[in-house]
Formats: sequence, C-alpha cells, structure tokens
Amino acid sequence: MKPSRRTFLTAAAAAAGAAGLAGGLWWWRRSQRDEHAGHDMHAAPPAEASAFANRLRVPGPDGLFGVLDMSATLTIVAKAIQHPILPGKPARVLAYEVEHDGRTFINPVLRVRSGAALRVKFWNALEEASIIHWHGLHVDSNNDGHPHYAVRGGATYDYQFTVANRAGTYWYHPHPHGLTGKQVYLGMAGLFIVEDEDEIALRDKLDLKFGVTDVPLVLQDRRFTAAGELAYKPSQDEIEAGVIGDTVLVNLTDKPYLDTAHRIVRFRILNGSNARNYRLAFTQGDKLLPYYLIGTDGGLLERAVKVTEAFISAAERLDVLLDLREADRMRPVMLKSLAFDPMHNEAAGGHGAHAGNGAMDGAELALLQINIKERVSYGKAIPERLSPVPAASADGAAERPIKLDIDDKRRWRINGLTYDMTATPITVKRGSKEVWVLQNATRSMPHPVHIHGFQFRVLDRRDSPQQVSHLALNAQGLLASDLGWKDTVLVWPGETVRLALDFTHSFLGDQVYMVHCHNLEHEDGGMMLNLKVES
Ligand code: C2O
Ligand code: CU
Ligand code: CU
Repeated sequence: MKPSRRTFLTAAAAAAGAAGLAGGLWWWRRSQRDEHAGHDMHAAPPAEASAFANRLRVPGPDGLFGVLDMSATLTIVAKAIQHPILPGKPARVLAYEVEHDGRTFINPVLRVRSGAALRVKFWNALEEASIIHWHGLHVDSNNDGHPHYAVRGGATYDYQFTVANRAGTYWYHPHPHGLTGKQVYLGMAGLFIVEDEDEIALRDKLDLKFGVTDVPLVLQDRRFTAAGELAYKPSQDEIEAGVIGDTVLVNLTDKPYLDTAHRIVRFRILNGSNARNYRLAFTQGDKLLPYYLIGTDGGLLERAVKVTEAFISAAERLDVLLDLREADRMRPVMLKSLAFDPMHNEAAGGHGAHAGNGAMDGAELALLQINIKERVSYGKAIPERLSPVPAASADGAAERPIKLDIDDKRRWRINGLTYDMTATPITVKRGSKEVWVLQNATRSMPHPVHIHGFQFRVLDRRDSPQQVSHLALNAQGLLASDLGWKDTVLVWPGETVRLALDFTHSFLGDQVYMVHCHNLEHEDGGMMLNLKVES
C-alpha cells in the first residue's frame, strides 16, 4: 500500500534532479543530515497504539468546541487565552470565545438550520487586525470576511446574513491579510455545521448522535516549544513550502483515543492544518479497513462511496462512515495518514517539508486510536440515496485558465500575479457559468485552491500523479472526493483540474470575493486574487 522508502527516495531524487543540480544536492544533503541525526523520515514505524493515552476532545454542551445552536444574536470575541493543549502545559492560544446563556464556549461548533438568518458581532480583542471568514458559505462580500474588512484590535464588525447553503460541515477562521497563517496556527478556527431535512433523515436512519457517534475530527499539525507553547515563526523555507508541524493534533488533542461501539460511526474530518496534506485510511494491524465517503466540503454526496484511502488537503472536509461491525472487536482501529510523496518539486529548493523531529510532509502518521469498547446490537444500513447532487456539467461555459506557479523571487502566484487588495484581476458576470481550468506547474507543490462565495463541481482531472490517478473512479480522473460540492480542491504538480462554476446569487451590486491557495503560508505570501462578481 505505501511506497517503500526506496521508491520514495527515487521519486524524490528524480524530482530534485529535474529541478537542477543545485536543488537536487541541497535536498540530498538535507536528507543525509537528517538521517545522521537519527531521523528515519519516511519509514517511521507506526506509533505504538498504547501511546494514544489522551481522550479525544469532542464537542459537548460548553467549553472547548461546545455546540452552540445559533438563533439569537451572538458576540464572538477573538482573544488570547491560556489553554493546556498538551496535558499539564497551559499555553497561550488565540481563540474565539462566546458567552451565551451563562455558558462559555471556546471555538464553539456553531450549528444552524439551512435558511436561518444570523446576526453575529465580531469583537476583535487581539492586539492586531482580524476578521472572521465563514469558509464555504454563500454570502455577500460584506459578510464574507474578505481581508479588506479586517478590523484592528479593539474594534468590532457586524455580520448579518442568511445561511443559504445545504447541510454540511463548513468552518470559520480569521482572514486578515498576511496574518491568517499565524492566527489559525495559534488556535483560531471552528466548525460551522448546517443542517437540513436530508441531514436529519440520515442521522435518524443511522442513529447518529453529534459528539458521540457523529464526531468531528479537526486535523492540525503543530510544533511546540519545550514549555508546551505554540511557536509560529516560519523560516524562509517554510514561507515557501508551508509550515509543517511534528505533532498532529486531532481536536487540539495530542495522541488521542476515542472509545466507541461495534456499530457505524461518522467522522466529519476537517484538515485545519496550515499546509500539511493527509492520505487518510483506517487500519487495524496491517489491514486497511474500507470506509464510506458520504460528504465533501459542500455537504452530502448523492450516494456513499466505498474507499480505502482519500487525500484531504488543507481546508477540505471529508464526511465518512466507518462500519466497525466489519472490524475485529479485540484490537484498536487507527486513523492514519499513509505515506505519500508530498511532491515538493519547487524549482530550486526541492524540499522544504522539514518538520524538525521526523513527521515530514508525506510521512506515515498515526492520528487517532479508535477502541471498540462496547458490543451493541445495531441493525442499521447506510441508505441508498443520501441527498440529491445534480450531475456536474460544463454547459458549454467559457473556459478561464487559472495557472499556478512560482516566480523567480520564489513567490507563488496565480495567473502570474500575487495579491493586490485593490485589483480585481478576475471579473465575472453575476449569473454566468464558467469552467475554470486550474493548471499547476510541474516544478511546483500541491496547491489547495479555494474559492470564496460559491461551491463548485469538479469536472475532470488530467495528468494526475500516479498516487492520485490510481484512486480515480472514472475516465474523467475523478476521485471519490470530487463527486460532491466543493469549495477547495487540491491540484498536484503537473495536474490540470477543471471546475464548473455557477456565479448565480441574489446579492445586488458588485461583490468582491477571492480565490487563493489554502496553504496558509502561500496565502499570506500573496497566492491570492480578488474575484469580482459584477451585477
Ligand atoms: Cu478558508 Cu479564504 O479561506
Ligand atoms: Cu473560504
Ligand atoms: Cu499553494
């Protein structure tokens, strides 16, 4: 299943070779040095199951990730708090705090019905600018948290919008230009869950209970100081490649375990990392357990798709069902990221995925231990149809090229440009349909491309690397995770991905959204463009 160390090194050497001698040697020297330091980066033995001793933090009635059913007006405060992410080591983190009905919520899971009208006051109690972006929501640009609307420390911003999206797992995070990577890394992010009839029907059919058998998993890799503090100080290499941490937290829990029963369990997985991609699989001993993909960024798929692995890039969501009745009850199941080639094929560096203590981008990682504790009688079956998803169609729409590459000053760019807050290099007509042709350079990195304001569909993938194309389900090269509504799509080096976009909305006047890479160091470095929808 996983590429051997030798295969990996060969691929990496080939990539580095293609990048020119200097780059190749640089990469090679680094890898030699790491080996001498005793780090076997790509064949790290799977972590011992017994090392997973911290109970997974899950959403409860209040506190960290408390579930907040949004109805009234809320005030969300961004502030620095002390929180023990690592057991017994309180650290300074930046968080969203809400006081409601006598309870305090930290990074609450905001839950609403589709169609709800919301009012949110954002109070920025940080010492620097910030603004909340509702990732994946279809709102007008006043409510989108575009960096243009960032407010300074001490100031507030009022949101008022109707939740037009179908049910799904969306999220919210800061979006001030140049500071997004730092603020997210230091703790600011939360889930935004939309519900509708189809979602409720599924939950009833499978007897799912949020926080118990319907469990969000937010994956975030971080690096800590010896004192347990989060440190965000990207080096030049990390500004170019993205910050990769050596500790992967799930719901801000290090080495977590979850006790569950012999039944179907749902995981709503968000990759909330700044830059790391994951190749998700459930394993038991040496065995891969199949699982069912039931939803993507923009909600449920039409039908469940059985898979054994799926990539998830920064900002993407995968909604999955794991049928533990198919598993051996006596042994723990591990959620892992299998080893893969991270394809850091940049023109000169050819590396940059260094995480300090092993755990390089692409290395095999154990993320969560799942213990099957309870024997229950559970006679439910996954429904044949989950929710209608219209077939993706190009509809004869005009194509727009979106080229991803790096310039000679080592800055990532889109269509040859880096971010200018005042420019609108992409202008589309309200109500128009377009096909965007995302084309990543060969000497590049995987870029998770995110578009604000509109969910889209993936039409096809061409020239995908083998580790991706072998997962394709059809002649269009589509992956299971391409079958639903999306707001973020990973484009690998050399790959071309075509998207169908429909710029229909009910907002009057011009609206300015954005398209950017969701590798947050790339985004902060300017791999971002304004997208104007003209009325
Ligand atoms: Cu999740 Cu513009 O971002
Ligand atoms: Cu977004
Ligand atoms: Cu990028």
